[in-house]
Amino acid sequence: MRIIITKSTSEAVDVVSSLLLEKLNSHSKLVLGLATGKTMEPVYEQLVEKIVHNQLDIKSHSFFMLDEYVGLPLDHPSSFKSYVTRYLISPLNLKESLFSFPPVDHVNLNKAGEEYEQKIRSCGGIDLQLLGIGTNGHIGFNEPGSSVESRTRVVKLTEATRKANEAQFPNGNVPVEALSMGVASIMDAREMLMLATGSSKADAIKYLFNHHDDDSCPATFLKSHPRFTLVLDPDAASKISLNI
Ligand code: GLP
Repeated sequence: MRIIITKSTSEAVDVVSSLLLEKLNSHSKLVLGLATGKTMEPVYEQLVEKIVHNQLDIKSHSFFMLDEYVGLPLDHPSSFKSYVTRYLISPLNLKESLFSFPPVDHVNLNKAGEEYEQKIRSCGGIDLQLLGIGTNGHIGFNEPGSSVESRTRVVKLTEATRKANEAQFPNGNVPVEALSMGVASIMDAREMLMLATGSSKADAIKYLFNHHDDDSCPATFLKSHPRFTLVLDPDAASKISLNI
């Protein structure tokens, strides 16, 4: 695991957006796995600025979303499809067809999960997976208890996760389920880049540092990956002690 502890949130965001830009620039056909969440909003804003500034053409790349709410229309403002449209597709004037979304409108969601996995494989697998972390250590929507062998499937959201996301649902109807890439699907990526910012992530990051392969904090599985980079701001790093 490579750890980058930055001096500020803006530096952490800059590090991650610069790493993404460098990947998009150096590959002719990158397959990039994308995360949602508040943490990623400034990352995507900066990435858009950098792509525009560098006049980078990213139309040969493809993008896979980690997860999507079940039971929410895809055009709902809080769907993850709307999120990525807002932060990447519209500002960069990209074709939606470059992006793949967990197909939550499929009549058979178990089959939908298998088909999504197949689609990832047919694109050659994910080169780089961008990840945030939930306050309970979830990755994607792989909540505590998720198996290291899990694949794209319907997951039940914990109350903690629903509470963390309730601001996006002013009517209080936070979805109860999502279709999420599994831990194994995520671990298949050739490289992983996680960003955690803010004091609300400090406990999960401390747990991640002190435990391995512990399904009560699915992020701990990532430590077994040979190419895992973790970028932290000072608040997210505030409860870890590095013996160096
Ligand atoms: C969300 C997403 C994750 C994200 C995490 C943290 O619900 N499913 O992909 O990393 O929870 O979100 P935030 O960045 O808003 O704290």
